[in-house]
Amino acid sequence: MADDISIEALTEAQARAELARLAAEIAHADALYHGADAPEISDADYDRLKRRNKAIEARFPHLVRADSPSLQVGARPAEGFAKLHHAVPMLSLENAFDDESITDFDASVRKFLGLGPQTPLAYTAEPKIDGLSLSLRYEGGRLVSAATRGDGAVGENVTENARTIDDIPQRLTGAPDLLEVRGEVYMSHPDFAALNARQRETGGKTFANPRNAAAGSLRQLDPEITRARPLRFFAYAWGALSEPLAETQGAAIARLGELGFSVNPLTARCDGPVEMLARYREIEAQRATLGYDIDGVVYKVDDLGLQARLGFRSSTPRWAIAHKFPAELAWTRLEGIDIQVGRTGALSPVARLSPVTVGGVVVSNATLHNEDYIAGRAASGEAIRGGKDIRVGDWVQVYRAGDVIPKIADVDLPKRPEDAVPFVFPIRCPECGSDAIREEGDAVRRCTGGMICPAQAVEKLKHFVSRAAFDIDGLGAKQIELFFADGWIREPADIFTLAERFGSGLQQLKNREGWGEKSAAKLFAAIEARRTIPLNRLIFALGLRHVGEAASRLLALHYGTWREFEAAMCAAVDRSNPAWDDLIGIDGVGEVMATSLATAFAQEAERASIDRLVAHLDVEPVARPETADSPVAGKTVVFTGTLERMSRAEAKARAEALGAKVSGSVSARTDLVVAGPGAGSKAKRAAELGIETLDEDGWLALIGQA
Ligand code: IVH
Repeated sequence: MADDISIEALTEAQARAELARLAAEIAHADALYHGADAPEISDADYDRLKRRNKAIEARFPHLVRADSPSLQVGARPAEGFAKLHHAVPMLSLENAFDDESITDFDASVRKFLGLGPQTPLAYTAEPKIDGLSLSLRYEGGRLVSAATRGDGAVGENVTENARTIDDIPQRLTGAPDLLEVRGEVYMSHPDFAALNARQRETGGKTFANPRNAAAGSLRQLDPEITRARPLRFFAYAWGALSEPLAETQGAAIARLGELGFSVNPLTARCDGPVEMLARYREIEAQRATLGYDIDGVVYKVDDLGLQARLGFRSSTPRWAIAHKFPAELAWTRLEGIDIQVGRTGALSPVARLSPVTVGGVVVSNATLHNEDYIAGRAASGEAIRGGKDIRVGDWVQVYRAGDVIPKIADVDLPKRPEDAVPFVFPIRCPECGSDAIREEGDAVRRCTGGMICPAQAVEKLKHFVSRAAFDIDGLGAKQIELFFADGWIREPADIFTLAERFGSGLQQLKNREGWGEKSAAKLFAAIEARRTIPLNRLIFALGLRHVGEAASRLLALHYGTWREFEAAMCAAVDRSNPAWDDLIGIDGVGEVMATSLATAFAQEAERASIDRLVAHLDVEPVARPETADSPVAGKTVVFTGTLERMSRAEAKARAEALGAKVSGSVSARTDLVVAGPGAGSKAKRAAELGIETLDEDGWLALIGQA
């Protein structure tokens, strides 16, 4: 059977034929699975087909078919939008809020590239459009799909809606055969005002700001509604391409303009930070009269060759940064302070405010962070807000920057009412009554109730089903609260026995508010689909303190399989075990995170709960980046000493792109040490352990980049 041919050995013609066969086979299986008929193949076989399809596509990206199964996640329910996989992930941008961060950005780009301060280095500067991003895929010059950003890897298929937008060409002439154009959908100020007026007249929903109006209009299930809404589009980036657009960012954008896209007229080339900051001021000065919302300026390294060398961090490019405009401010009254208990037991104070409009958005809650923040101190003990504490009844200044949660920036002392009393932070958990203690050095007070605290349990479950974790269709925060309150789901493992326990109880679920036979069956199918889960998502879903999405990916890449990961975490409790050194040797994992991981796996109740969960799962090892013919795939490499041909950061990024793991310390698990001049203890240790050691030229020769 064709499956037996190794992917490395496939010729282009064989790959093309097999992709066609896989597309047909998977579509057939989807139809049987989602239709009335019984499926013909097991879930494991189905997943194997999908994985093979993905691996072939990774090796032959130019052969990805318009009907590729990896572009369509199943024939998902007709409710809502189908999902579309982005061939190239849609990333976000690092944010900067002051001038110094821009000179730092230039310095870090230079450092990565090994460029001295005198070497010319150009950037483009352009407005940051405040809308929602969209990826348009053209094949043979025809628009074949359009997807929202979603979680960056998978977006919503809004193709029919995108076709109704005048700024989006349906056909291109002279474009690369495959071209994904990315940009922002937005609504102009006059169009926004007219839309809201129309909505008010007809009793429809009005929108708080143009961005919400644009998002609400694009994400309409009926494209005819989108057609009636005046949406616009600026192109500013690209995804998959069959051939390069140009050699520079500026020329690539100009080319998109020639192809018929609207590109922002304020885009300019700048020779360094001084010109960039001058351009920022010019754009800021025009902000009010542009006729559409912008929330900052984006700078990008102009040379696309340098962009490629700079590459990406886990979710943002190294070659671009967003310089945001200053935050928006407003004054209002603090009506009360609520304490929320999070999944790690943290007691978080939340300000309840008299609703106030801050930069076009109505705000009625703001974070108060922790007890020190309310008292007017930073963790270091230094005064914040001039040391003013926050009392219920105070007039407070609310600050909102971009999408971040609003904060309280200041307190108006002369307006403080006489009956305002200082806030006394609770020392017991308001949810379960357990002691809430503050450990030395921790800014946060935490409930000690662990699994018995219902608030922690519910928050852990909500995190478990969240988008970057298990992302179960039909099981969101609201449903978790209901199932928890009814006792149907108490811990993650319960989700996977839900269908079984309901068995005859299906009637009960059906009778409950909001659940019909169809929706219940759909929920069970969505849960079933998640029994197979990539390792990084599982690690993230556990909701351990300090272990975020990016760290989970690093851990998954490092350990590869659940079994390896679990064994290592259990062993790492003992700090003299090599597993501990190996764990903190992962670049991006510090002592704090390592301690949190090891402690969680050493706690009996937590362990038992994880074991119960994993028993229901089929954990997928995480695939490393395309490394078919890489001689260092899967190898653990340590760089030490001075590198002369490129910066340490670039060497690391290249090694990782070739599938190597880069570690900061030499251990028995190290496969290769690259030692430059001045290498000391690490090179010595490698020699003691008999680990292969190369100099920089030897390394470059090995990876074929000499
Ligand atoms: S470049 C790889 N340029 O800002 C990075 N993004 O905060 C590609 N945005 O998700 C993005 N205007 O939705 C870029 N001129 C611009 C932009 C822009 C708005 C949005 C975009 C992105 C978000 C990141």
